[in-house]
Amino acid sequence: MVLYKNDIAELKNLISSHTKTFLLLDENTEKHCLKVLDFIDFQNVVKIIIPSGEQNKNIETVKYIWAQLIGNLADRNALLINVGGGMVSDIGGFAASCYQRGIDFINIPTTLLAMIDAAIGGKTGIDFHGLKNQIGVFSQPLAVVILLEFLETLPERELLSGLAEIIKYGFIVDKTFLDAQLQKNPVNLVNPVFIKKAIEVKNEITCQDTTEQGRRKILNFGHTVGHALETYLFDTRDSLKHGEGVALGMLSALFLSEKYCGLNHETTLYYKNIYRKNFNRFDFGKLPVDELVEIMRHDKKNTDGNIRFVLISDLEKPVYDVVVKPEDIVESIKYLIDYLNDENYWGK
Ligand SMILES: NC(=O)c1ccc[n+]([C@@H]2O[C@H](COP(=O)([O-])OP(=O)(O)OC[C@H]3O[C@@H](n4cnc5c(N)ncnc54)[C@H](O)[C@@H]3O)[C@@H](O)[C@H]2O)c1
Repeated sequence: MVLYKNDIAELKNLISSHTKTFLLLDENTEKHCLKVLDFIDFQNVVKIIIPSGEQNKNIETVKYIWAQLIGNLADRNALLINVGGGMVSDIGGFAASCYQRGIDFINIPTTLLAMIDAAIGGKTGIDFHGLKNQIGVFSQPLAVVILLEFLETLPERELLSGLAEIIKYGFIVDKTFLDAQLQKNPVNLVNPVFIKKAIEVKNEITCQDTTEQGRRKILNFGHTVGHALETYLFDTRDSLKHGEGVALGMLSALFLSEKYCGLNHETTLYYKNIYRKNFNRFDFGKLPVDELVEIMRHDKKNTDGNIRFVLISDLEKPVYDVVVKPEDIVESIKYLIDYLNDENYWGK
């Protein structure tokens, strides 16, 4: 259930039907986001504050959350409200789903990426052994509450990270998301119409296929190479935001789409322009392409040791479970690096 500002009464009803309410925040959302939640009676909630960032989406932080729940006598009818970006909703959803075999949780996303993607659909989890989202469960939030005011304090780089996922929806589901990203004047990143539409896309696809047996897989467009880059650069000076990885990964996926699905080259050129208009020209130096392919071997979409991609045969025509040969993956990453290094293109 997705609730908006007009539905706050409904949210209050959900809260009051539980024995105790816990608010999970990271250090930034504690600082910036509590003021938007002035309808919550803070006297009667327990705040759990965790350190921010992907490097803390791990078992140590989960243990801390569980210890706080136990220490404050959370019973099976307690409620955990996750107030934050995808890091908080992923880890909070996971912690809640395992605590006493599962307590209710609500997601109140505070980043663009979490509003239109991470907080919706019931994927919860943590990183483990250097692998992203390796441990987790599918578990649906009781509700997802969308309040756009949170975006006022969100840094631009985080907004752009969310925009990448909106652009992804443009390629796989609804091309009306796309042209606006090429307009001459910078697109207003907080575009309520696009945000609402993107939420509907994610909600519709994930409700139809809650455990990713079929069509939901299309949402991983750009994620195979994107996750590998994010994982490889994790904790380095060049670490990537989730959406930045996806934005880069989509170019590799389009290269492969031409080769495997007959996509026309104009669509790739169109994306290159969208990328240049909106995202950073990263300089990664030398990337160990074979190591990236090794990381992809752990991707959860794989079966039988094959690396599977989501590709497109045209705009709005995604194809999932495409087995791609390692040598072609290497080519697609080289294509991406050549694009970022092309002085003529970026100089124009
Ligand atoms: N479960 C899913 O379906 C799904 C989908 C996509 C991504 N994800 C996961 O989501 C995570 C990325 O989410 P994210 O991009 O939201 O990152 P994030 O949660 O790390 O938030 C980004 C940064 O913004 C700060 N922040 C959050 N809200 C703020 C606000 N309103 N004002 C100021 N600062 C604020 C956070 O403290 C953090 O430093 C990754 O772990 C990714 O794997 C999950």
